[in-house]
Amino acid sequence: MSKSILVTGATGFIGSHLVEELLKKQHHVESLIRKGKTGNPKSKTITGDITDKNMKLGDAKYDCVFHLASHTPLEKNKKTLQNVNLEGTKNLFNAINNNTKSFLYVSGMGVYGETGDKIVDETFPYSPNTEFVKTRLKAQEFLEKNCKELGIDFSVVHFGDVYGTKGWFYEFLIKRLLKNTFRLPKGGKYYKCFVHIDDAVGSLISILENNRFNERFNVVDSTHTKFNDFVNYTADSIGIKHPGNVPTFLVKALLGSDLTKLLTTSIKASNKKISEIYQFKFPSYETGVTDIISELKKKGMLATSKR
Ligand SMILES: NC(=O)c1ccc[n+]([C@@H]2O[C@H](COP(=O)([O-])OP(=O)(O)OC[C@H]3O[C@@H](n4cnc5c(N)ncnc54)[C@H](OP(=O)(O)O)[C@@H]3O)[C@@H](O)[C@H]2O)c1
Repeated sequence: MSKSILVTGATGFIGSHLVEELLKKQHHVESLIRKGKTGNPKSKTITGDITDKNMKLGDAKYDCVFHLASHTPLEKNKKTLQNVNLEGTKNLFNAINNNTKSFLYVSGMGVYGETGDKIVDETFPYSPNTEFVKTRLKAQEFLEKNCKELGIDFSVVHFGDVYGTKGWFYEFLIKRLLKNTFRLPKGGKYYKCFVHIDDAVGSLISILENNRFNERFNVVDSTHTKFNDFVNYTADSIGIKHPGNVPTFLVKALLGSDLTKLLTTSIKASNKKISEIYQFKFPSYETGVTDIISELKKKGMLATSKR
């Protein structure tokens, strides 16, 4: 049945795919986008910035708000992170003014912090260890509490690193691999969780369509993958050489210690729970990365790759 949906972060990597997929499934979609940005022309656009305390959304009634707008973890300024991720979420909630039946908040696996060699599932305690993740978790707690008080259904999704033809995978990994400027911090010898963009978006929609609210879902593929294996597999798929390593102190100097921690904290997780309602198209990163690389080749976005 067609639902009425508001998507924040609709111009972003995941949000733009989500809007497209929701429209394909005949849902009515409204996109919250910032002034000067262009959203999907097939969705209704609402112009607004979540940092604006007086943001207005009108009187539309939604079945669900997918909240994806957030500052990037590249930001080092704590105040900016707090302003967008936490205060922005509060402003959004106030602007919605109880005009939604449910809220789906998109977050990352970083909330679990250091988990050692354990396989993380949805019963694991949160232990955020960076400012970016702390502000995201505070926003989640705010939504959980306030949705409960107003009788709005709430679920949270923790994504692994989502790869696709846009976002970090193309902008930070592929482009740098092509220029031979990508280097692996700590030799990439830590586990990361990955998820193909189609499965990230498919999982979100299946939570809505299966009415799975007041729950937490970890959305990661079925493999436990060391970052260097993922990167080297990507380089092999393009047909270029594997990258070298970079000392951690240099990464910290460039990216700051928080982002370095976020990038290099080892984590293994299970997708058992989300798999009950969603069948992954790409349960392993090998098939997923092959799919994205062939898409990039078709689009001519790897044209200068052969050296
Ligand atoms: N990509 C991943 O691997 C990954 C993994 C785990 C969790 N997540 C989470 O998933 C969500 C989406 O990620 P993404 O990769 O799609 O991020 P993204 O490409 O950086 O998109 C972020 C979106 O948020 C919007 N935004 C930022 N500040 C805003 C503001 N003040 N008011 C209104 N909109 C604002 C951006 O709008 P503009 O276009 O105007 O900048 C953009 O549409 C985020 O919450 C992210 O933390 C992502």
